[in-house]
This record gives sequence, C-alpha cells and structure tokens, in this order.
Amino acid sequence: MRIVIINGPNLNLLGKREPGIYGSSTFEAFFEKLQKKYAEMELHYFQSNIEGELIDKIQEFGFSADGIILNAAAYTHTSVGIGDAIKAVETPVIEVHISNVYQRETFRHQSYISPNATGIIVGFGLQGYELALQSFSK
Ligand code: DQA
Repeated sequence: MRIVIINGPNLNLLGKREPGIYGSSTFEAFFEKLQKKYAEMELHYFQSNIEGELIDKIQEFGFSADGIILNAAAYTHTSVGIGDAIKAVETPVIEVHISNVYQRETFRHQSYISPNATGIIVGFGLQGYELALQSFSK
C-alpha cells in the first residue's frame, strides 16, 4: 500500500504555530511514529507553501499511489487549481483538517477539495491523518 500525505501552507510550522489550535507536536515527529506503527505501508510525506508544488505532487502520485491524504490548509478554501487536480487524478483523496473548521470563521467552511474527496476528516488533531490511513488499509 503506497500512501502519500500532502500538507499545504504553514503546516511546516506545526508545533510552533497556534498550539492551542494545532497542537504542540511537529509533523515530522508525528510522521516518524506513523511510519513505525504502519511499517507494512509505504508512506510518503510532502509539505509545501506553494500552490503549484502541491498540484505537481498530487499529479505525481495521483496515477500510481493507493491513496492521497491531503491537508491543503488555507488553499482548501481558495484553490480551484487543487480542486481540479483532485478531479483529474485516479487515486482516492481523503481531505484532513487538524482543527474543526466548521467551528471557526465562515471562510473556512468553504472547501474546493470536499466535492471530489472520497472522505473528509476534521477536528481530530493529528489523529485525523491516522484515521485516514486506516481507511486505506481496510
Ligand atoms: C487547517 C484549517 C485551515 O483553515 C487553515 O488555513 C490551516 C489548517 C487545519 O488543518 O485545521 O492552515 O487545514
């Protein structure tokens, strides 16, 4: 099972960024634990603050991987391009948000990812990525 986790802008600051909302663990530390726990899976991780690089990565994995776990962060709410990329590829995409975006500002309630995602996991903290992973291993 080949799975890629793709994180969008500002998620490189996890651990430092608004810890009351996003927690105090870095993504790298969390990812290491995931790799150990799910050693039978081939896990990849990519983060970028640049919209086009996220689209490139979705295209790169989108015809060969078994699953994409995508937290497009702020681009979730603005990016027609990322929404179109998800529509274009064959690999199923699970949309993840660390925070419960529906408890937050109304601009966070809009998603260009959701209409074409296989599933959506919001508000479970970093555990949401693991829940997404488990959904692919069923
Ligand atoms: C986020 C929610 C987005 O609204 C925000 O812009 C982020 C992170 C989340 O994981 O909760 O950067 O995607």
